[in-house]
Amino acid sequence: MASQVNEKQHLDDGVRTLPPPPLKIGDVVVDPPILQAPMAGFTNAAFRQMVREYGGSGLQATEMVNARGFVWMDEHEAEHPDRLWGVADEPRPLAVQIWDNQPEVMAKVGKRLVDEYRVSVVDINFGCPVRQVTEKAHSGSYLLRDPDRMHEIIRQLVEACAPTPVTAKIRLGCSRDNINCNEIASVVEQAGAAALTVHGRTAQDFFKGSADWERISEIKSHLKNIPLIGNGDLDSAEKVVTAFQKYNVDGVMIARACLGRPWLFAQAAAALRGDPIPEDPSMEEQRDCMLRHFDLVVERFGAEKGTLLMRKYACCYAQGKRGARHFRTHVAKASTPAEFQSIVTEFFPLESQP
Ligand SMILES: Cc1cc2nc3c(=O)[nH]c(=O)nc-3n(C[C@H](O)[C@H](O)[C@H](O)COP(=O)(O)O)c2cc1C
Repeated sequence: MASQVNEKQHLDDGVRTLPPPPLKIGDVVVDPPILQAPMAGFTNAAFRQMVREYGGSGLQATEMVNARGFVWMDEHEAEHPDRLWGVADEPRPLAVQIWDNQPEVMAKVGKRLVDEYRVSVVDINFGCPVRQVTEKAHSGSYLLRDPDRMHEIIRQLVEACAPTPVTAKIRLGCSRDNINCNEIASVVEQAGAAALTVHGRTAQDFFKGSADWERISEIKSHLKNIPLIGNGDLDSAEKVVTAFQKYNVDGVMIARACLGRPWLFAQAAAALRGDPIPEDPSMEEQRDCMLRHFDLVVERFGAEKGTLLMRKYACCYAQGKRGARHFRTHVAKASTPAEFQSIVTEFFPLESQP
């Protein structure tokens, strides 16, 4: 059933009203201020296309791209990472996220992304908690313990990319007993970044517990001019509204919840406007959406790899629905497009859970 938010309603303290103004990242207007998060292994061009077709996200992001890998491939194989597939051609605005710990390497890649790919925003990953990135490469969230290096990476990247804006995505800190996001926020701003995104967990938390939106909210007073984008556990239009009204963020970023629900952005955007929240697509429409997504993936990755890749998205589309387990068991065995399509036709649509 369609629900209604209290549109254009003042908060108790009279501060925040809906709808929030568009977000400005440098000269890039993010309208509505709802961002699609970077997710390695998921937010490739096919997925971004699905999100774009439903609308509601003011800025989409690629998967994180390793800057050192980019340089190596460029020099040795005259090729660029697969993760940049689609980037040169798709509609703007579009952010590309990069990671590494060498300021010069980051600056070099940032410049290429701006000059050759004409990306709208270059985002830096300071939040990834995965060992491969932290312990092995001293990058991602590992850098939260080294604000000086963060400053230098941002500074050089901003200089190399100007006037294209550079943004940073962080967590609250490396661990619960080392939460330093307020200090980091100032460092990020002083180094010249145009926006800060904060996932409200520490690196040590990975995905455990809940995102701490009080902490995210606190950061706001440590930023002078650049916008704050809050991220973590937003899985409904109502929660997006709450994030703006209660936690004082300038923008929000959605990750996991959109993987099987690319229409979530459009629902959240409607809620922010004070319009009725569109209902979820019917099961039949969701099935068609998954099959269209499948076609896009296969078009790019070929039948075999595309089918393998699509299995994980299919599980996301089924998540939370009655019969999801049954569907997952079958779809996990699909190895050709014909098998995938027949499994989807037979076991999806699933009934919504009551
Ligand atoms: C599978 C997966 C891949 C991710 N990859 C990235 C990434 O490449 N870069 C990044 O900054 N964050 C990445 N994240 C973190 C998300 O962008 C986001 O910060 C986190 O999932 C919290 O938001 P959520 O609660 O809306 O999912 C990833 C998360 C997941 C689940």
